[in-house]
Amino acid sequence: MLRMDTAGESHGEALIALLSGLPAGVPIDLEFVNRELWRRQQGFGRGGRMKIETDKAHVLSGVRHGRSIGSPIAIEIVNRDWSNWQEKLPVETGDPEKHQVVASPRPGHADLPGALKYNFTDARYVLERASARESTSRVAAGAFAKLLLRHLGIEIASHVIRVGRVALEREATWDEVVAVSRKDEVLLSCVDAETEARMREEVAECARTGDTVGGVFEVVVHGLPPGVGTYANWDERLDGLLAWAVMSLQAVKAVEIGRGVTAAESFGSAVHDAIHYGEADAGRATRFLRHQNNAGGIEGGISNGEDVIVRGYLKPISTLRKPLASVRFDTREATSASYERSDICVVPAAGVAAEAMVAFVVAQQVLGKFGGDSALELKRNFDGYLEQIRRY
Ligand SMILES: Cc1cc2nc3c(=O)[nH]c(=O)nc-3n(C[C@H](O)[C@H](O)[C@H](O)COP(=O)(O)O)c2cc1C
Repeated sequence: MLRMDTAGESHGEALIALLSGLPAGVPIDLEFVNRELWRRQQGFGRGGRMKIETDKAHVLSGVRHGRSIGSPIAIEIVNRDWSNWQEKLPVETGDPEKHQVVASPRPGHADLPGALKYNFTDARYVLERASARESTSRVAAGAFAKLLLRHLGIEIASHVIRVGRVALEREATWDEVVAVSRKDEVLLSCVDAETEARMREEVAECARTGDTVGGVFEVVVHGLPPGVGTYANWDERLDGLLAWAVMSLQAVKAVEIGRGVTAAESFGSAVHDAIHYGEADAGRATRFLRHQNNAGGIEGGISNGEDVIVRGYLKPISTLRKPLASVRFDTREATSASYERSDICVVPAAGVAAEAMVAFVVAQQVLGKFGGDSALELKRNFDGYLEQIRRY
């Protein structure tokens, strides 16, 4: 079973990812892992913190001579900002005068419920772990899941389809989404230049007014054969597992599979994807085809061979330069919420983190179906199944 654990605090010494269950023999390209970390740090509307950090994966175990060896993979990503925080957030007692207290909880953050739950008198320890800095660990582990899937010809990419009031009004092709993911300069990761310019204006307006903005990203899984996930048990449905994983990301407040949201306003005759039989395109496992993909590649909790489409809806960032009303923890007096350096818009970065979560879930399900302790054994099982599907 593929498992992922993460540890670390936003301003602690380092972030940690622990990935176990990856078969032996998967080629590990560390440049690719580091590029994924770089992608998570980019985007128009990011705050000052991402200018301090240059995230790099330091692999401590589980990879030797460029391949996985089947044992747990431990990855450390050092926080460069730690040098500024050693006295504010020491492991030992330290000097209480130097601790950086978060005196009034920020609406939209875990600050208040977290302080109540863990019996903290300020929100510092809450935000240190609730922060989306944690998603760095997920991106590192997810990059390894992507490398496993790549070995089987399955690729994952994302793009942005909405920032605030500005939406992409057309579908994007797989090639366009890949092209956006490969860019060396990341602004808002929209496949349409004119729409992206309007999205930038939306973010720029927030920068001027001290506000923040959310949006929608779309993750696409390309090359997944039919048959991954199952309707047989509620907790094995691929759509449910993906929704859980993507919803678990900070600020994601809704997850949509394919046209899930607009389907609810439409009619069955327009929504469902008619079935055709014809020549298989290159890389496609079956000759049963669809001319549209409103289902987002999943029917009955099982992949159907079309691209899997997962959309995440992000609320606007909660930390505001013009803070909302709050109450001091110590005196209960009315005040403004604490302000800490913050992003204005993170939709492209959240898309990258969601790619990692989708990669993890798909890799987990693929390993569950095809098994194998080595990449060779997995590939043999996978290819045997593809042959069975082709002959079906
Ligand atoms: C990549 C990424 C970066 C984020 N950066 C910030 C930030 O700089 N400031 C902020 O207030 N929230 C940021 N968030 C969102 C918060 O972490 C999140 O809203 C908060 O922890 C509360 O969790 P919830 O929104 O899931 O309820 C970010 C989210 C993501 C995915």
